[in-house]
Amino acid sequence: MDTFTPTAKTTVDANALVYEAADDFRVHGAVYTDEQIFNTEMRDIFGKCWIFIGHESEVRNPGDFKTSFMGRRPVVMSRDEHGEIHVFLNRCRHRGSVVCREERGSVKRFQCQYHGWVYGLDGTLQGVAKHKGGYPDDLDKSRFGLMSVPRVEIYRGLVFANMDADAITFLAYLGAAKPFLDIHLDRAPDGEVEVVQGAHRTEYRGNWKFQAENSTDGYHGDTVHESFFKLVAEFGNKGGQHGAYTQGDLDEIFAHRMTGRTLGFENGHGIWESPLSPDAADNMKAGPFADYVDWLEGKYGTQSMHEMLNAMNLLIFPSLAVLHGQFRVIRPISVDRTEVAMHFFKLKGASEAYNDFRLSGYQRFFGPASFGSPDDVEIFAFNQTGLQAEEVEWLLLSRGMARETFDNLGVRVAESTDETPQRAFHRAWKAHMGA
Ligand code: FES
Ligand SMILES: [Fe+2]
Repeated sequence: MDTFTPTAKTTVDANALVYEAADDFRVHGAVYTDEQIFNTEMRDIFGKCWIFIGHESEVRNPGDFKTSFMGRRPVVMSRDEHGEIHVFLNRCRHRGSVVCREERGSVKRFQCQYHGWVYGLDGTLQGVAKHKGGYPDDLDKSRFGLMSVPRVEIYRGLVFANMDADAITFLAYLGAAKPFLDIHLDRAPDGEVEVVQGAHRTEYRGNWKFQAENSTDGYHGDTVHESFFKLVAEFGNKGGQHGAYTQGDLDEIFAHRMTGRTLGFENGHGIWESPLSPDAADNMKAGPFADYVDWLEGKYGTQSMHEMLNAMNLLIFPSLAVLHGQFRVIRPISVDRTEVAMHFFKLKGASEAYNDFRLSGYQRFFGPASFGSPDDVEIFAFNQTGLQAEEVEWLLLSRGMARETFDNLGVRVAESTDETPQRAFHRAWKAHMGA
């Protein structure tokens, strides 16, 4: 017997959990606290959507591997002897143990640590420990290779995988959000980025969607990150996001932060964008990285140069955020436990000094001893605690609905503090959970 089909597929009534009317958008608290809903997400979202596995530069040479997760499923990405990239379920075909335990490394083959079965870099079963006598001599090893994730697509070095063999292509899934991913990559003079090995990891006691929503949330910054902006007001932030926020006055900084925009895309992706402060490009031109800004202006023109220097956070539904030089990977562990891994990337072709400058700006806001991310994850744990008061059923995500418009591609556009990306996220969530 090769397959077992559970008798009853659990269903979740997504229509009762995400409510939308002309001027009202609400998400039920159970969406963040209910275990059955979480289990359904693992099947209907993390089993159906394109999930970021890593970047090609993390498995540069044959034998290199990196482990990751698609929802709760452990997976391993490897580069075989022929240079081809594979993504497998990281589960031994004997009795199910994880085959590859390390976060990353380089090997000739994978050996399960339980009973010693050996798999090739392409996932084929190569050896069964103490085979003779224990199994038929002609055991068909081709039936017991590591199971491949059905779909793998690589876009400009980013490796995405999908458990759904019938899924639309990654680029169709990305849709109108593609130019925004391109901007992050086009900032590199060589047109490619390179992940710096290792990641900042943090775990919080809260649902994974809090971090997904927050990655494009322009509403929380002035409160959650007030201490950061006070420091910027006092000392400036010339080492920050391309020298943004150079004003010396807190009110001016907050007023400037209102000048950005938010976008919501069809498949749940979202954008929060905040322009440079008016003098930031000039500051850069007068500083040590003038070459980089000149290159950007020469290649893309003055207006695009300004746009490409903007702070721009892109969430690719459901669990990858690309922002400020990092791939931020959100990993749901349980309904109230989440890991966030932040992988900083260099711009290939930019000077070491400029990449170091970017890295220090990233560390200042996102690193473990920084002014930004630790404050965010603290909030997520408080959110989870607040939701234990179940008598209040709904979370409100209607901010800015009345001023939301559509651009010519059908993308929803609103102001920088509006909950447009979060609504796009939950519309897609609802569509998947009802499927
Ligand atoms: S579980 Fe892997 S060899 Fe037994
Ligand atoms: Fe934040």
